[in-house]
Amino acid sequence: MFENNAICKLLGIKYPIFQGGMAWIGTAELASAVSNAGGLGIIGAGHMPPDVLRAEIQKCKGWTDKPFGVNIMLMSPFVKEVMQVVIDERVKVITTGAGNPGEYMPALKEIGTKVIPVVASVALAKRLVRAGADAVIAEGTESGGHIGEITTMALLPQVVDAVEVPVIGAGGIGDSRGMAAAFALGAQAVQMGSRFVLSEECIAHENYKKMVLKAKDRSTVVTGRSLGHPARVLANKLSRKYEEMEAAQAPAEELEKLGAGSLHRATHEGDVENGSVMIGEISGMLSDIKPVKTIIEDMVNGLPQVITSIEDTCK
Ligand SMILES: Cc1cc2nc3c(=O)[nH]c(=O)nc-3n(C[C@H](O)[C@H](O)[C@H](O)COP(=O)(O)O)c2cc1C
Repeated sequence: MFENNAICKLLGIKYPIFQGGMAWIGTAELASAVSNAGGLGIIGAGHMPPDVLRAEIQKCKGWTDKPFGVNIMLMSPFVKEVMQVVIDERVKVITTGAGNPGEYMPALKEIGTKVIPVVASVALAKRLVRAGADAVIAEGTESGGHIGEITTMALLPQVVDAVEVPVIGAGGIGDSRGMAAAFALGAQAVQMGSRFVLSEECIAHENYKKMVLKAKDRSTVVTGRSLGHPARVLANKLSRKYEEMEAAQAPAEELEKLGAGSLHRATHEGDVENGSVMIGEISGMLSDIKPVKTIIEDMVNGLPQVITSIEDTCK
């Protein structure tokens, strides 16, 4: 299976399944487990200082001999330094968010690192492929965390049609049905965040996981639109406060202050009322915490059945 898959060939992985970079919880524990299970584990650099990222990469190297990646947020205050760490450590794959990694491309290409930006529009996908991206992740608005405006269902086929490189579909994928759907839309691989939050290896606080387990289809809301960086989170005391302040057109600095440190408050301190519980819309479908290996095996082993039922529907 997947012997001819463009992403598996490009990255040297067994299954075309990425664990999306996740600030604070996409640690070496999770990334190495995903890579060991045959997918692509990704360390979420978020706003990590360079020395912290280096330690995380070294831990990951100690726990897996398989390829893994680092997700770099281009708006991090440490972006130049963390890019240098990735280069020094010869990380095989980087995914990028929030911007254009073009200026770092020559140095990364020189050492053979594959650069895979996350995009939320066709225009950005085309621009970054022209700048040298090896593949792109088309991420729909259903996703957890910082998001764009277009749904995965609409974005993915448009990006697939617009670029010559392989496309990874992200946003709202949580089982084999979602994976098959992404493939039907032209993706060569999928990226999941929410599903991996509910894994045994994810270090998110148990209160965070419990709240995600209780989520229903309409439990998430989007905050931060007025600041130009919307994020999908579970509705709680913090999101309601945020919405009230946005409705009252509170100054940007006050909103920034309210959001500062809020993800860590939820992921590490377990304060899921005053912290930001980032998660995607698919959380409503997720009802168990499983080992990473089981998540990946269930996705892959369930595919033939989904394909058969599609064939039956079309007979
Ligand atoms: C808690 C959380 C934190 C995230 N942090 C980041 C991040 O730092 N950088 C990034 O590019 N994407 C981030 N994402 C998005 C994921 O990498 C992934 O693309 C997304 O979760 C896919 O949608 P899904 O949640 O429906 O699976 C985050 C998602 C979650 C749930």
